[in-house]
Amino acid sequence: MRRFGDLFKLVLRYRLNLAGNIAFNALGSVLSLFTFLAIVPFLRILFRTGNAAPDQGAENGGQADAVFARLSQSLDALVAVHGAERALLFMCGAIAILAFVKNLVTYLSFYSLSTIRTGVARDLRNQMFDRILALPVGYFTEQRKGDLISRMTNDLMEVEFSVIGTLEVLFKAPIMILLSLITLFAISWELTLFALVFMPVAGVVISRIATTLRGAAGRGKERLGALISRLEETLGAMMVVKAFDAAPRFRDRFSEHNEGYFRLMRRLYKREYLSSPVSEFVSMSVIAVLLGVGGRLVLRGEGLEGELFIGYLVVFSQIIPPARSLSDALFKVQKGAASLDRLDEVLQAEVTVEEPKEPVTFGFETSIRFDQVRFGYPGSTAAALDGFSLDITKGETVALVGASGSGKTTVARLLLRLYDPDSGSVRVDGTDIRELRMGELRRHIGFVTQDPLLFNDTVEANIALFDPTPDAGRIAEVSEVAHAREFIDQLPEGDQTPIGDGGGRLSGGQRQRLAIARALYHDPPILVLDEATSALDAEGERLVQAAIERVMEGRTALVIAHRLSTVRRADRIVVMSQGRIVEVGTHAELMALEGTYHGMVALQQLEG
Ligand SMILES: Nc1ncnc2c1ncn2[C@@H]1O[C@H](COP(=O)(O)OP(=O)(O)OP(=O)(O)O)[C@@H](O)[C@H]1O
Ligand SMILES: [Mg+2]
Repeated sequence: MRRFGDLFKLVLRYRLNLAGNIAFNALGSVLSLFTFLAIVPFLRILFRTGNAAPDQGAENGGQADAVFARLSQSLDALVAVHGAERALLFMCGAIAILAFVKNLVTYLSFYSLSTIRTGVARDLRNQMFDRILALPVGYFTEQRKGDLISRMTNDLMEVEFSVIGTLEVLFKAPIMILLSLITLFAISWELTLFALVFMPVAGVVISRIATTLRGAAGRGKERLGALISRLEETLGAMMVVKAFDAAPRFRDRFSEHNEGYFRLMRRLYKREYLSSPVSEFVSMSVIAVLLGVGGRLVLRGEGLEGELFIGYLVVFSQIIPPARSLSDALFKVQKGAASLDRLDEVLQAEVTVEEPKEPVTFGFETSIRFDQVRFGYPGSTAAALDGFSLDITKGETVALVGASGSGKTTVARLLLRLYDPDSGSVRVDGTDIRELRMGELRRHIGFVTQDPLLFNDTVEANIALFDPTPDAGRIAEVSEVAHAREFIDQLPEGDQTPIGDGGGRLSGGQRQRLAIARALYHDPPILVLDEATSALDAEGERLVQAAIERVMEGRTALVIAHRLSTVRRADRIVVMSQGRIVEVGTHAELMALEGTYHGMVALQQLEG
């Protein structure tokens, strides 16, 4: 139930609107009661004109009856002075004015609610997005992406509609019910006591149905998440789907999930739709009983006047809509709670890569050191790195080579603290990077990822990564260094050209050069280049190679490459195999060793 507390805290941010909503609701309830009670004097004018009613209120001695008696006396006086027809007109005018004011007040209550409802949804969305940004990369598996999208859209909407939307009912209905009950007691307490006996019965029936709804709703949302994952995956791999003529298989996979979702939701709605007829039946039964009992009181002349009884019935019928919306709200809240749980799972997800409590300021004077690092990806049993130790002196260029899957990219990820090692440590100038502020550490490292991740925006936005005040001079400089200038200048709008989804309008090599330019934009002292030249042709590779050598001057670099020509000039070459270092040395030293590196070079020469 903690999540409802959190949600309520969000609602409380809109105190003023909330107070306005409650106040207008209360006022609206009073006014609507008056509007409906106006039927009583109306009936009295129609049926009793001329013969003043016997003063029953005085006989009963009740205070409420005295009030009614006084009111009917003034009404009789009105009729006596102006005549029945004028009095009738007067009553009609009063009803119209009451109705106008009542609806104005109702509108104002909704008016204040609109800010709460949309505001809370906005705050929740922001909270979710912040959380998503804060979660470690290990959290985002392919399967989770679609599920997260589903949570951010469907579940959030569900919370807005069901939980926040029912706030209105929660504040309005009880006020309306309470006021109506007071009025009913005032008119006839015997009858009201009678009616009240039936209320708990209805309540139990309805809440029994509602509680079963929640579990079903939660499972439904899970299914929807899986469904959206399928969609997201298919959209992302459309090229493969078409090229391999795999559409029928993808359709089968999708419709299997879709069918499961359909069955679940059908069951859910069958149950949800039950609430309305059940509560309507229960309330109509209560009215039927009231008609019998109250009618008898009137017929026997036992302290209930005919027109008051009709007024009573009208007021009683006004209890039914709020009572029903309250029971509907109960259903909705149960459904919404399942969605709120799903939002909460993300909001409470553990941030495994944590900011230090007392961060040490970043300084890089001497070295980067991997010390006996062991790391396995979450969910996999094998270690990606095992006993990995490496010292990189400031200013040095170290190349990482090794077979695919040997752990090269993992080394880069650990240096950027995208993951934390299971044991051992990564240190900069002897300080464990877990003691550095993450942002500060990462700002000092330029990272070119193996797969250049570009955004559907302009060249400029991609290089400066949405820097609100991009430095045009710097962009020109770094794109020049990355040999990206020549193709950028040929784009229709230069730096301002949109590059399409994931940079889809650029060639692989152009994307890579853009990614290199981005890594250089903040002039980082440390560069990490993962396969930076793999997607380039011989000429492109030569250009980038020359550029990289230029940008490495005065920088410390960790270069990961399959193409050995790229790493030949590194100060040191580290050969990896299955998460371990097997050879270290310069190109000449390793060639002389005639070990793994020698073998790799020989193989590439054969290929080349
Ligand atoms: N996100 C991940 N989740 C689980 N296992 C992973 C993940 N990324 C990599 N691995 C595993 O960790 C091991 C090391 O992967 P890594 O990406 O570091 O290799 P690599 O040397 O960069 O390979 P390549 O040259 O093909 O890029 C591999 O066995 C791989 O299957
Ligand atoms: Mg890799």
